[in-house]
Amino acid sequence: MSFQAYLDNIEQKTGKTPEEFIAIAKTKGFDSPDTKAGAIIAWLKEDFDLGRGHAMAIVHIIKNGPQISDKHVGSKGAHSDPTNKLELKGKQSSKLQIRSLSKETYSAASDLLLELGLDTREEINHHLDELKKYYVALVGGVVIGVIGWYQDNVNYAKPAMGDKFPGEEAYWVGFFGVDDKYQGQGIGSKLINFLQQELKAMGAVELWVSSVQESTTYYEAKGFERFMSGSISGRPRDFLVKRF
Ligand SMILES: CC(C)(COP(=O)(O)OP(=O)(O)OC[C@H]1O[C@@H](n2cnc3c(N)ncnc32)[C@H](O)[C@@H]1OP(=O)(O)O)[C@@H](O)C(=O)NCCC(=O)NCCS
Repeated sequence: MSFQAYLDNIEQKTGKTPEEFIAIAKTKGFDSPDTKAGAIIAWLKEDFDLGRGHAMAIVHIIKNGPQISDKHVGSKGAHSDPTNKLELKGKQSSKLQIRSLSKETYSAASDLLLELGLDTREEINHHLDELKKYYVALVGGVVIGVIGWYQDNVNYAKPAMGDKFPGEEAYWVGFFGVDDKYQGQGIGSKLINFLQQELKAMGAVELWVSSVQESTTYYEAKGFERFMSGSISGRPRDFLVKRF
């Protein structure tokens, strides 16, 4: 088994990333150079039921960090690793994650929507302040996409929609954007699917969007149907709906 596969297995079994093991080891004083491997092995057996082979992999990263010997790199054997640097942030770190917006990700999310030119800072933050209604897409902890929802309790769409306004209880797609370096890779689709799942779980039966005309075909491709057109503050809008 490669060294990285050992670490991935340990993460699978314990739910802890290599970096988290290093952090716990520090709090226990096990990062000191004179700590014996045996003490670390005993701790990992006791707290995580790790066997000796797996524990030795953790001993290595506590003492040496991500660096491993070149001996097995690209050796094509059972122990072959692709590089001499281990990934310590965990299996998911390079993969896409979708999380609720938090205080930690708030300003990056606001910057992203502002850079995409979606609205003024004030209006963006007014929506993002409702952290629970917004979600971020993260790669390696960096915000690369944002989506959220709102209910139109100020009747923003009512003047344009008249008696077809779906009411203040209806759910609408809020600010939605993907960092332009990551567009066209399906991240927008994942975000909108995620939003739909969340809203369905809350009992929503349909999702509305008030779209600038440039984005209408995007929403149609995601299964929204054009309901009517109108204009808000002099800007043309298409109103679309997806019924679940
Ligand atoms: C709209 C947006 C969120 C989509 O995110 P994404 O991660 O690029 O989306 P996906 O990768 O899931 O989908 C990409 C597909 O949509 C298409 N697409 C992107 N923007 C589109 C638009 N405005 N109209 C029609 N199609 C569009 C792409 O051409 C691509 O098509 P393909 O799969 O056939 O190649 C992103 O382009 C964006 O942030 N745009 C700027 C802000 C914006 O317009 N937000 C939405 C309105 S509020």
